[in-house]
Order: sequence, then structure tokens, then C-alpha cells
Amino acid sequence: MLVGCMPLVLMVVFALVLQQRRSNWSQVVLKRVLPALSDQYSCEVSADAPSFHTDFVTGKMNVVDLPVKQPQITNIKSRYRPDETLHGNCSSHNSRPAANLTWIINGHLAKNSQLIRYPRIKEQHEKETSTLGLRFLVEPRHFTSGRLKIRCSASIGNLYWQSTEKSIEEEKPRPPQPATPSPTYGNDVLDKDFRDTNRRWPEMNKLPEEHQRSVDETMASNGAAAWAATAPWSLLALLLASR
Ligand SMILES: *[C@@H]1O[C@H](CO)[C@@H](O)[C@H](O)[C@H]1NC(C)=O
Ligand SMILES: *[C@@H]1O[C@H](CO)[C@@H](O)[C@H](O)[C@H]1NC(C)=O
Ligand SMILES: *[C@@H]1O[C@H](CO)[C@@H](O)[C@H](O)[C@H]1NC(C)=O
Repeated sequence: MLVGCMPLVLMVVFALVLQQRRSNWSQVVLKRVLPALSDQYSCEVSADAPSFHTDFVTGKMNVVDLPVKQPQITNIKSRYRPDETLHGNCSSHNSRPAANLTWIINGHLAKNSQLIRYPRIKEQHEKETSTLGLRFLVEPRHFTSGRLKIRCSASIGNLYWQSTEKSIEEEKPRPPQPATPSPTYGNDVLDKDFRDTNRRWPEMNKLPEEHQRSVDETMASNGAAAWAATAPWSLLALLLASR
């Protein structure tokens, strides 16, 4: 009942990083994996006499370096006037591979025309920083109870999902001069308008279920590395046992 993992040299490495307490005949758990271990792996099973039947499966393992910090929102003020242009960035620093970024405005994915894509920046140890710009004209309808919420999320496959939210206040027009009538639009109208378009902001800190699970898994894998199985960034951790 021999189990062999290729490339052969890495068997030695496996022996060093194997967490025996958490490993058994159907899965291996490794500690302190390094990006250099990303490779294609095959595990082979051989039966004893009389059949000497052998079989093997192959899978790709990617070792992922997760960002240390949640995505950072920059150059966005805390107050905007309606009809002012909001223009800022979101960056996720130092991961391998680079994180995918998305912008969400009041609970809705930003349109392509509102995004500015920047090339990834290469960092040390083959890590990368991704940046996604957001630019749009702030309109009265964006504010509900005087607030506009923008959120940037960063993800790496199904192993990592983190987001940062910024709440922006509506800057009211200057107080009217004594003789001038007050502004023509009022909150009642805006709130109604807002409800009509059925915009709803998801509950704070409530990630989609799937993502929540991924974050947990990420923590379980020491926060630094994770395995991949069928698709890229999922996980192979598989040794086959003989019958
Ligand atoms: C191996 O360990 C995993 C996780 O602890 C468990 O789900 C699985 O059933 C175990 N398999 C065997 C063959 O013991
Ligand atoms: C956004 O980031 C890019 C790339 O780092 C930079 O060139 C650009 O000036 C930034 N824009 C803003 C509004 O911060
Ligand atoms: C980013 O998104 C693209 C398209 O959905 C996907 O192919 C790629 O694997 C993603 N990259 C990461 C690091 O999650």
C-alpha cells in the first residue's frame, strides 16, 4: 500500500510540512506551504499482490498569498454635493495572485463606464497590488437620508473575500440668503424616489453565505496559504488509500 506523490523531490518537502494530526489516508494537511510548491501533483495508489493494480489522479495546487489588509479606499471625500464628480480608488495590496476588485454603489454593482482599470503593480516576492478606480457624477437620487454608501470588495477565487465600505454625506447647498426661497428639492421627494428604484443596502458586515464560508476556510488554513483542487484556487489535498 504505497502512496507516491510527484514530483518525487517534493515528497521530502511533504514530509517536512505535513501536519500529521490533521492528515489521514484520504487527505493531507500541510503547514507553511510556499508559493514555490505551486505545481501539478499526482498521487498514485498501488495494491498488493496478487493484483498489483495501480491508479493515480492528478490535480493542480496553487499556493495563494492572501492580502494582509482589507481593501483600501483612497481619495474619496466624506461629503459630496449633488452634481459633483466622485473620483477615487480602491486598492488591494500584496497578494499572489492579484485580487479581483469590484465597486458597489448603494448595493448595486458599479457600471463599467464608472470604472477605471489600472494595471497591477508588481511587488516583492512575486506579489501584486491591484487598483480599481471609481468615477461618477453624484446625483440627488444617490442619497438616502442624506447618505450614499460605496463599498469596494477584493476577492481571490473562493478563498478570500474582504470589503471596505465608505458612507458619504450629502453636502447641503449653502444656507439660503434671508430673502431667497429655500432650495426646491426636499428630502421627502428624494426618499420616495429612492424607494421607487428599490435600492437597498445589504446589512452591514453580512457577506453572502458562500463568501462567509470562504473567509472561515481561509482562516483555518493559517491565513497565509491555501490549497487548490479542481478549478484554480480551490484545493487539492488528496492521497488515495488502498482498498
Ligand atoms: C480525514 O479527515 C477529514 C477531516 O478531518 C475527514 O472529513 C475525513 O472523513 C477523514 N477521512 C478518513 C478516511 O478518515
Ligand atoms: C488611482 O490610482 C492610480 C494608479 O495608482 C493613479 O494613477 C491615480 O492617480 C489614482 N487616482 C486617484 C483619483 O486617486
Ligand atoms: C478574477 O476574475 C476572473 C474572471 O472572473 C477569474 O478568471 C480569475 O480567476 C479571478 N482571479 C482571482 C485571483 O480570483
